[in-house]
Amino acid sequence: MRFYPTDKESAMNALTIAVEAAHQAGELILQHFRQPHEIQMKGPADYVTEVDVKAEDAIVHTIRRAFPAHAFLAEEEHKPSQGAEYVWVVDPLDGTRNYIRGIPFFCTSIALVEGGRTVLGVIYDPLRKETFAAEAGKGLRLNGKRVRFTKQTNLENTVVYFGFLPTRHADDRGLSLPLLVHLRPRIEAVRTMGCAALSLAYVACGRLDVACHDHLNAWDMMAGALLIKEVGGIATGFWGKPISVASESIIAASSPSLHAEILSVAREVLKEHRLPTR
Ligand code: IPD
Ligand code: CA
Ligand code: CA
Repeated sequence: MRFYPTDKESAMNALTIAVEAAHQAGELILQHFRQPHEIQMKGPADYVTEVDVKAEDAIVHTIRRAFPAHAFLAEEEHKPSQGAEYVWVVDPLDGTRNYIRGIPFFCTSIALVEGGRTVLGVIYDPLRKETFAAEAGKGLRLNGKRVRFTKQTNLENTVVYFGFLPTRHADDRGLSLPLLVHLRPRIEAVRTMGCAALSLAYVACGRLDVACHDHLNAWDMMAGALLIKEVGGIATGFWGKPISVASESIIAASSPSLHAEILSVAREVLKEHRLPTR
């Protein structure tokens, strides 16, 4: 069945449905914020609550009702079959550790990938009621208003977000920390807030200039990478490859010149770690 994005009405519909699904998840997340949770461990320092699972189910239910033939790559329970043409990439609750501890910084992230190309992305911050939404080629909107801002191009004036692998991880080969060490003397300020997807939305609207994360999954970054592209920014992995569902790291910058500078520092880090630079 082929109805997206060639059929304009369905394309619009898909973004509307994605926003609706994100808002439903957000409502659920808010209802249970700072309440006791059923917490389980998925791996070292990797938590899941009943809210992550319920929010994912709500998103999948809403999207599936509209697009029954589409597949899902969602963090908690839904995985696509091989070769699926339309895949919804979903992080129902990004920033679970913040959520569990009552830290008000988390979001929902939803992207639709068609044959490997991201065609829409939605990131929703339920606490601040901020909906970042983009369709490929049509720009980024924040709560319906087109996002425009003056880009920072001098590295020395940048605010750079770093996201790290949880510290109690057996295999700690994170590259964000050495990148931070290399960049620290050359940038203005560092931020790290425990929510990868929202950090990308903040780069896309100019609140941050750059975000660097290692050890991510597709659901953390597919929507954010599109948002950044839609404002003329660039997002790649540490090795400079375009973001895809197979990516595991991201360097996202609102301006191409900043991205190029950070990527060249990332190459120094890779060399220092005796890893191939390409
Ligand atoms: C995590 C957050 C965190 C990042 C981790 C992610 P989760 O996602 O985005 O900021 O550093 O690598 O796993 O588990 O809260 O959805
Ligand atoms: Ca996540
Ligand atoms: Ca999550």
